[in-house]
Parts: sequence; C-alpha cells; structure tokens
Amino acid sequence: EQDVYILAIESSCDETAAAVVKNGREVLSNVISSQIALHTLFGGVVPEIASRKHIEKINQVIQEALDEAGMTLDEMTAVGVTYGPGLVGALLVGVSAAKAIAYAKKLPLIGVHHIEGHVSANFIENKDLKPPFLCLIVSGGHTHLVKMKDYGEFEIIGRTRDDAAGEAFDKVARAIGLGYPGGPKIDKAAKEGNPHAMEFPRAKIEGAPYDFSFSGLKSAVLNYLNHEKMRGEKVSQSDLAASFQNAVVESLVSRTVLAAREFGIRDVVIAGGVASNSALRAAMKEACEKEGFRFYHPSPALCTDNAAMIGAAAYYEYQKGTRSGWDLNAVPNLKL
Ligand code: KG4
Ligand code: ZN
Repeated sequence: EQDVYILAIESSCDETAAAVVKNGREVLSNVISSQIALHTLFGGVVPEIASRKHIEKINQVIQEALDEAGMTLDEMTAVGVTYGPGLVGALLVGVSAAKAIAYAKKLPLIGVHHIEGHVSANFIENKDLKPPFLCLIVSGGHTHLVKMKDYGEFEIIGRTRDDAAGEAFDKVARAIGLGYPGGPKIDKAAKEGNPHAMEFPRAKIEGAPYDFSFSGLKSAVLNYLNHEKMRGEKVSQSDLAASFQNAVVESLVSRTVLAAREFGIRDVVIAGGVASNSALRAAMKEACEKEGFRFYHPSPALCTDNAAMIGAAAYYEYQKGTRSGWDLNAVPNLKL
C-alpha cells in the first residue's frame, strides 16, 4: 500500500499550526505559532486579533511544516483542516488556506472536527491504541465522555450541563488572580497548595450519572473568596487552586471510571487541553491501575491545540473516503 502524507492545518483558536503526518501515526513535523503572549495583555483570547494574527502567520507556518518534514506540496496525498468548532474568523483562515492549496495542487480536501482531532492525538504516541475505547474529552469548550466505536465514530455517554472543564479553570484562575491562560497557571500553583484545604462541592446530576457540572463549583470558589476577604483574612492562592483542581479532577475521574465499568470498556483515554493537567493524569492513572484498565493519554504538547492531531484524524477520515467540497465552510458551533 502507498504511504499517505497529510498536510494538516489548525487555526480554530489562538494557535496557528501546521503539520505533516505520515499514515496517521507518524509526525514528520508539527509547527505551532502561539498567540498567548498577545492575548495575555487582554486576559483572554480576543477573536478579531486572533484572526488577524492567523492571516499574518499561516503561510509561514505551513512552509515551515513542509521544510521540517523535508517535503514539498507535490508529495502530499491530501490536505486536512479544522473547520469547527471554534472562532469563526480564526477557522476561516485555516479553511481558506487549505482550500487554496488543495485546489491548486489537485489534492483531496478533508474537513476535520476539532474534537475528533483531540481524540486522535492519542494515536500518535500509542501505536497499539485502536477503537473501541472510552474517551474523556476535556478542553476549553468541551467536556464529554464518549464511547469511540470506530475511527471517527462516537457515542456520547455524558456531557457538561454548564461550563466546560477548561472554561472553569480559566474563570477560577482569573477570579483568584492567576490570570490567563488559567489551566496551566492553576496546575502550577496547585503543586504548592493543599488540595484538602477547602471542601468544594462535587455536583451530581439526578438521573444522569455521567454528566458533569462545574458552575456550582466555580460559584463556591467565588463565595469563599468573598467571605474571606470580608473577614479580612488572606486566602492562600495555592490552597484555593489545589482545592478547586482536586474537585474538578475527582468529578472527571469518578464518572470516567463508573462509565468504563458500566459499559465494560477496558481502554480509557483522555484528550483535550485539560488532559495535560498533571493532577488529572496522576489521578486517572491511579484509578485505572486499581480497576485493571489500560490508560492512554497524549504527551502534554499534543493535548493542547496542534495540527499533528488534525493530521491523525484526517488520515482516518481519508481512509473512510471522507472528502470535502470546495464549499467547505467554517462551522463555529459544529456538534460532536
Ligand atoms: O484543547 P485546548 O487547547 O483548546 C480548546 O479546544 O479549547 O484547551 C484549552 C483549555 C483551556 O481552558 C486551558 O486553560 C486548559 O485547556 N488547559 C489546562 C491545562 N493546560 C491547558 N487546564 C488544566 N491544566 C492544564 N495544565
Ligand atoms: Zn482544542
């Protein structure tokens, strides 16, 4: 069989990224131009600034990805690109670039769901991993527990009723004065704190054992902060971070383990930006070992947004015969 080389492009939020991926699992290059420093000035991602920066960087990032792989566009088999969900202006930059290249070089164009990309990041470093498996997807916009039945075929088992896990990290980080980007800052601060210093609630949803809720937890942290301030006490930022993080991690791990047991799935996978959280990785590993489940996760750099994961997902879509038309458009609220 002929080797398949995918040029993959990702621009759904604040990273301009391109990669060359061979046969879905081998990363020949993975270039990321991050805008974090720019958005930090505003305490979060500013969509209009993100779009403009993507336009400035996209061609350079794509060329770097080809150069690092030691390949040219003429050697590519197909072009894969994230078309949703994400910021519409940001997505459009990647989609337009991918369409132009595919059209000019007469290559198949494959629109990729960003979340399918996050899940597929696991195929890169875990060569033995194959569906079916249970996957906890935790990013800035998503918190889903899914049964991955086949490549690109999901069944949703549970979801968040309000905030996504990453969103909760970002909001709490802002509230306790850690700023943007919240997830990594809480992760770091929590290492110095006591996870049992404050008892925050772990929401359970009546009749929906695999669903999540983080807005009550977020409010509990804010209330705690206000009360302590009123009493003139100094709250420990690291204790708050650790106690909040502990509550999120316990909610995520308990439901994942419950679902794996209930559905008889022995392979447990995590994906998305929050999957790089050190406490979540440690707790999930321990829980899976106890249950006798195999536990898979991408390395932290492949958990957060990148194009290699889009290349992995595009490969399996390519093999299934998925082809996008020239009318491929950005879909900001694309459903799972
Ligand atoms: O998957 P991702 O890079 O972008 C989206 O598709 O949303 O996820 C970004 C989210 C942000 O909310 C960020 O705060 C969170 O992932 N995140 C983390 C960590 N690193 C990134 N959350 C907790 N701990 C981390 N180490
Ligand atoms: Zn993402």
